[in-house]
Parts: sequence; structure tokens; C-alpha cells
Amino acid sequence: MILPNLYKDKPNPRVIELLDVLANQRFLQPEDYLYILDHIDIQGYSHLCTLSRKVTNESYGKDVFMRGLIEFSNYCKQDCYYCGIRKSNNHAQRYRLTSAQILECCSEGYRLGYRTFVLQGGEDAYFTVERMETLISTIKKEYPDVAITLSLGERSYEEYLRFFQAGADRYLLRHETASPKLYKKLHPESMSLEERMLSLQQLKQIGYQVGAGCMVHSPGQENKDLVEDLLFLQHVTPHMCGIGPYLSHQNTPFAEESSGTVEETVTMVALVRLMLPNCLLPATTALGTLDSTGREQALLAGANVVMPNLSPTNVRELYEIYEGKICTGDEAAHCRGCIQRKIEHVGLSVHMGRGDSLMESNVCL
Ligand code: 5AD
Ligand code: FES
Repeated sequence: MILPNLYKDKPNPRVIELLDVLANQRFLQPEDYLYILDHIDIQGYSHLCTLSRKVTNESYGKDVFMRGLIEFSNYCKQDCYYCGIRKSNNHAQRYRLTSAQILECCSEGYRLGYRTFVLQGGEDAYFTVERMETLISTIKKEYPDVAITLSLGERSYEEYLRFFQAGADRYLLRHETASPKLYKKLHPESMSLEERMLSLQQLKQIGYQVGAGCMVHSPGQENKDLVEDLLFLQHVTPHMCGIGPYLSHQNTPFAEESSGTVEETVTMVALVRLMLPNCLLPATTALGTLDSTGREQALLAGANVVMPNLSPTNVRELYEIYEGKICTGDEAAHCRGCIQRKIEHVGLSVHMGRGDSLMESNVCL
């Protein structure tokens, strides 16, 4: 069980003290992170969220950066045990968008004001390096002021390089968990944490702004695994970090496992914010799926990115990595307005620019 006291009223001055130290010096010893996770209660949580929002205001102000998400293929050759679009899920109805459809999403996105497009897909061999190069350079030619973020899973060094040379700016590749033992439990033999880390290292070396990230409350996860995630992020210093709750999906081997909660996830987002004030941290769609105010809660605790959907409405339900995903029936324009209202409702403001990360690090790992 993770964060056993999170919903209890068991004030613990040591937790408050450690959070203050973290906010001032940006790092703690492993045993101190573990102490926080083991003992944080309602009051500690509230203190953490306040500190984290304050640190965010000092680095990025009240801006929340908007990214237009285009889920262009749900074909995937990987078989991660938690994921609804894993290759062994025969119930998943597969689709891939044509280049023309993807460009149509970009055009709609640009019209709505987005200046970052996130091209996300399963590991789909149809999208060869040549096809991706053409797609990336076409988008860049048409919209030179837009940043392109790729989220295509693991590829070879040469492919990462060629995508970058074609104009891609950023790459999201969550590490999922930094604990080798848990990584093994969540993935088939063919995948390894070493490969993941090698990819992140290569992406950084090439010059991408790199996004790592993990799931909270994934099956079998313990507080000591979360400490490994914190230490990993402290070491890797990614430009972005996507932290979302694990949400169970019935057509996976983990169908019976329980999902994470908003507060568990927000705790991790806020701790990462205290460690990495300049990191871009999304309020994930998975949080919005758990609770209609989940993303707002993350924003109030230091998240500063949202990724509304630009995919064609008729395929949104099919990109079902977890169940119950929100916004599947909504037009891009509707999501754009909805998310703006949510952001402004919590006293923050929408930023439609490219929104590059303030993290400096392109040091190699
Ligand atoms: N619950 C929550 N997040 C999931 N992802 C995949 N499956 C699930 C799930 N069942 C996340 C992974 C992946 C990202 C695209 O979606 O972290 O990196
Ligand atoms: Fe899509 Fe709210 S963000 S409907």
C-alpha cells in the first residue's frame, strides 16, 4: 500500500519540516523521501500543495501551457501489462490516421491557437522513419512557429536523430517506474528499464527537450518504488515529467488491480515540483478521468501543462489506454473552451505559446 496516512488526520511535524527543507534545498536523502511518503497526512498534503504552487509561481508564474494532442495510431507492437492498447488485446479496434487526417488536426489546432502539437501513438511499424520524417517536416513547413512533440515509444538512436533533424523538438517517453523489479512486473521480458534509460539518454544527447514520467499506484508499487522515481528524476532532470494515476483496464492482465487516486498522484506531482522548479508538469487526462476536478487539483499543486485532445472525434474512444477516458465525444473547440474555463476557475491563466521548458539541462546522463 502506498501513502498509508494520506487520508488520515495524523499531523506529523517532521513531515512539514522535511517538506520545508525540500522546498528550500531541492533535494532530500532517500530515507527522508520515504519518511514523507510513509507519514504524509491531510495536513502535510495541504502544506505540500501550497508550497508546490508557490514554487511554480516563482518559476513559471500562473501560466498553464496548452498542448494539442493528436493520437494518430493505436497499433502497438508492445505488450505492457497495464495498457489497453497492448498488442495482445484482441478486443481493441485498431485505427491509424492518414497523413491528411493528421494535417487536418494540426490545421484545426493551429486555428484554435495551439503552438505545440503532440503526436502520440502506439509503437506502430507502419509509421516508418521515412513516413515520420515527411510528416514532421510537412508540419514544420506549414507551421514554423509550432513545437512538435513526439510520443512514439522506443525507437532506435538513428530514428530519434532523423526525427530531430526533420524538425521534432521534444520527445515524451515515460520511464513508467524507476524500480527495476517493478518494471519487470509491469512489462514483458522483451522490455527493460535499461533500454528505457538508454533511450532517454540518447534523446537528451541529440538535443530534444525530453519528457520522462511514471504511473502512481501501479500494481505492486510500494513507497520505496516511488522514492526510486523521485531519485531517478532528480538524477535525470528531464525537461518535462508526466505523472498520472494507474487506471485499470478490463482487457489487460491487471484487470483486477485497483486504480490510483487523485491525492496519491498529486502528492508525487507536487514533490517533483519542489525538486525541479523549472520542469514542465502536466495535469494529466488520466487525473481528469478519475475525478472531474482532478486536473484542477494538480494545477493547484504545481502542474502547469494540459494536453487537450485534437484527435478526430470518431477515433478518440479507440485510443483507450485506460478505461473511461474523458473528452471522447467532444470537438476540439469544445475541449479548448472547457479547459480554459477550468484553468481560469482556479485562478490561473492559459498560455498558448510554444511554452518551452526552463530546464537547462542537456547534460548527458
Ligand atoms: N493507466 C494509466 N496510465 C497508463 N498508461 C498506459 N496504460 C495506462 C493505464 N492503464 C500511460 C503510460 C504511457 C502513457 C502514454 O500512458 O504511462 O507512457
Ligand atoms: Fe475536453 Fe473538458 S477538456 S471537454
